[in-house]
Amino acid sequence: MRPVARTLDEATQAPADGFLADVLEGLSRPAKRLPSKYFYDARGSRLFEAICDTPEYYLTRAEIEILGDHAMEMAAAVGPRRIIVEYGSGASIKTRLLLDHLDASAYVPVDVSRGPLLAASAAIARDYPKLKVQPLHADFTRPFSLPLGALGRSLVYFPGSTIGNFEPHDATALLRQIARAPGCDGALIGIDLVKSRQVLEAAYNDRDLVTAAFNLNLLHRINGELDGEFQPGRFSHRAVFNEAASRIEMHLVSKIDQVVGVGGRSFSFRAGESILTELSHKYTLDGFSDMSSSAGLTLTQAWTDDAARFAVVHLVRRAA
Ligand code: AVJ
Repeated sequence: MRPVARTLDEATQAPADGFLADVLEGLSRPAKRLPSKYFYDARGSRLFEAICDTPEYYLTRAEIEILGDHAMEMAAAVGPRRIIVEYGSGASIKTRLLLDHLDASAYVPVDVSRGPLLAASAAIARDYPKLKVQPLHADFTRPFSLPLGALGRSLVYFPGSTIGNFEPHDATALLRQIARAPGCDGALIGIDLVKSRQVLEAAYNDRDLVTAAFNLNLLHRINGELDGEFQPGRFSHRAVFNEAASRIEMHLVSKIDQVVGVGGRSFSFRAGESILTELSHKYTLDGFSDMSSSAGLTLTQAWTDDAARFAVVHLVRRAA
């Protein structure tokens, strides 16, 4: 196996430290919440992969269908010799469908979850021997610098509808960061589309309770890493579609009145009180186009699966 260059992990780029501060801050709010990026420790990353295999979670299969059917058109839209910078790369499964068609010069997967990032990078480097692979262990919501210097134009690849986890204001800021990144001339972004409440809620409430385990894993992680004293059995998973805000809202609901210690502090929960753990926005193509436009990006093409459940859109920097 060809060795992969060491991950960049400088103090400025490492995502490690904010966990305790973010948890204490989120649990201190009148309406408690926890940031969804902390779902993805090793177990959480595995549980997310398992969610993608549930019959109810159509998103991944729809996106793979789109890439399978349209990767050549995407490659033509993007142009040759691009550095592909992937946000939230995880297991990099979808990336392969793109790399198979794209004439990429380098691949920079960016992820907060170090183990999966390294494993996926090594596998990509082995299977694409001509590609320069440089993993970056970083939080892509914070400004970061590319490890490859000025080697060429870059394309941000942001699949999976992960952008849907951000409130519209923060999603717009992230798009603006993409629009302004040096050397970046466009992006391919996966977004989940608005559809019936029934289909949406089923996708986040799978019968085998994999999504419930994924959600509850956040409490296990707090226990393991932050001296938390959560008893996960005293919380239940809930995911509902908020139609007005066009998003799935995922919660952990306290089954009883209880007090829980975390990092030397204690937090009280009333029976029925919830912690908001994730937002997952569902877009229309027009709505996403408007948001991109306000961030300085123009939506030039969109591809959907046959059932129009999901879309991959190509955004380019708006000409000044
Ligand atoms: C990976 C963030 C896109 O919001 O659908 C899956 C995560 N949460 N089931 C999503 C998730 C619950 C997923 N994203």
